[in-house]
Amino acid sequence: MTVLVTGGSGLVGRALAARGATALGRPALDVTDERARDEILTAHAPDAVIFCAAMTEVDRCATDPLSEAINVAAPAAWAREVPVWFVSSNFVFSGPGPHAPDAVVRPVNAYGRQKARAEEAVLAAGGHVVRTGWVYGHGGRGWASRLPALEGTWRAIDDWPVQPTWADHLADALLLLPTGITHLIGRDETTWKGFARAVSAELGRGRVEGVSLAALSLGPRPDDARLEPASLPGFREAVPQWLSRGSGTSSTPP
Ligand SMILES: NC(=O)c1ccc[n+]([C@@H]2O[C@H](COP(=O)([O-])OP(=O)(O)OC[C@H]3O[C@@H](n4cnc5c(N)ncnc54)[C@H](OP(=O)(O)O)[C@@H]3O)[C@@H](O)[C@H]2O)c1
Repeated sequence: MTVLVTGGSGLVGRALAARGATALGRPALDVTDERARDEILTAHAPDAVIFCAAMTEVDRCATDPLSEAINVAAPAAWAREVPVWFVSSNFVFSGPGPHAPDAVVRPVNAYGRQKARAEEAVLAAGGHVVRTGWVYGHGGRGWASRLPALEGTWRAIDDWPVQPTWADHLADALLLLPTGITHLIGRDETTWKGFARAVSAELGRGRVEGVSLAALSLGPRPDDARLEPASLPGFREAVPQWLSRGSGTSSTPP
């Protein structure tokens, strides 16, 4: 079976590539380029496409018109051509959670609204949706991925529930190609402060200081984006494996 991955140079795409999927990143494949899509589909004749390409900078999606093309139009168009497993986000929800796969979506920001609209289009075309959240791993752009390489005090949100999800565990489960709408997220619930403490304990260094979500002056965030069922192993199990593989030392910029 041929599994093709879009967004292949991203965190999840690389984890899928490491497991044998054919992962294409930019510039080889821009998902908004219809001609490139058709050429790639002809060349690879994939049985399944795991759609990881996305504009993932949450607040940028509110202002950058390209986000609509990448996050909504592209997955919708691909799903009309080929069986798509669309990697969506827990940010399609807001509280109170944890949210079941069949719960009504209620996004509070542009990124979440785009993911929700893309989900609807992909499902209507016969594709599948996998929602995840708070993913970390080797070379990731997010704060959690970069944590072990951060200097000084680690300021970590202490009033927002999270379910940290190791990219390797997510990739293993994605390759099973679950049908319909599936939630794949780490089963241990904590805060980013709790996660930072686990990383600090494992590394034997790092000073953790709590900060409120509101103090970071980010754009709108769901008050509660927890998913149920939390089906993947949790961070208590994953963090030692992640760090023992040297994955925490990346200095990839945000
Ligand atoms: N990471 C998380 O915590 C998280 C949480 C919930 C859902 N998700 C979803 O999981 C999926 C994978 O995320 P990730 O963590 O792997 O994010 P990521 O590391 O930011 O990777 C996303 C990739 O998409 C690529 N991309 C952007 N625009 C593209 C385009 N027009 N054509 C082709 N590729 C394009 C990016 O390429 P460039 O590097 O060239 O920009 C990047 O490599 C996304 O759909 C994301 O929304 C992630």
